[in-house]
Amino acid sequence: MEILDGKKISSDIKDEIAVEVAQLKAKGEKVPHLAAVIVGNDGASKTYVGAKVKACNFVGFESTLIEFPEDTTEAELLAKIEELNTNDVIDGYIVQLPLPKHIDEHKVLLAVDATKDVDGFHPVNVGRMALELPTFLPATPYGIMELLERYNVPTLGKNVVVIGRSHIVGRPMSILMSQRRAAGDATVTVAHSKTENLKELTLNADIIVVALGVAEFLKGDMIKEGVTIIDVGITRIEDASKKRGFRLAGDVDYESVAPKSSFITPVPGGVGPMTIAMLLKNTLLARSRHMENEK
Ligand code: GUN
Repeated sequence: MEILDGKKISSDIKDEIAVEVAQLKAKGEKVPHLAAVIVGNDGASKTYVGAKVKACNFVGFESTLIEFPEDTTEAELLAKIEELNTNDVIDGYIVQLPLPKHIDEHKVLLAVDATKDVDGFHPVNVGRMALELPTFLPATPYGIMELLERYNVPTLGKNVVVIGRSHIVGRPMSILMSQRRAAGDATVTVAHSKTENLKELTLNADIIVVALGVAEFLKGDMIKEGVTIIDVGITRIEDASKKRGFRLAGDVDYESVAPKSSFITPVPGGVGPMTIAMLLKNTLLARSRHMENEK
């Protein structure tokens, strides 16, 4: 069993980006500038956005954090988005999800300028991804593809089961892994809450991507020997013995699954850190595209 070490690979990628930023600086070029918008007080979201800003500082990017209270109106948020779209200093930005219930998420994502959409959530960028055109790939699926590629996990012709059909992870994963590309060429099945024969599918899978949001859902008796496991889940479980009052659990029951796996991502330290590294990679790409247009 080999650990797919997202902490290490993301650190390598951040080092690679830092070198490129240093080269930009040496040439007197503008460095990439990422903005992050967060609405409300969700603890996990605040932690994620904080980590994204910290990563910007680490690689030498400029960053701007924009925090709105929970009762911010949709119009107020859309006004800020318009401002970010037209502000030439900002190369890319993200609107952290989920948004409060009174705000229409689709409307917000549609308002983001597609050339600054480093999350890859705008319908134009989702379409470009599906058509295998150059675009910003959504950071979590992009990070998983990068992990599979850097560890040379065989995917060509393999049976992949993606559990979960979210727009952010499950759906794009299924599209990317079926494409003719690195870590692609797989035969992909998308399973979800209505799937009737899940265990039959997972027992036949060579690679399982679990992006369901149910702690420790995938158990050892649901998989075959030698499978590759990608665990996208990260749930806070109350635990009084921990100083912060909770522990983090993935969607995979690591104890029973890891011994049967050939490759597995741990939680934490697997997919999570990769997501941040790929967001930085997208922001660097946004800057280089903007630079091309400025010429
Ligand atoms: N919420 C959960 N994952 C993500 C992500 O990758 N980007 C944004 N903006 N929000 C998220």
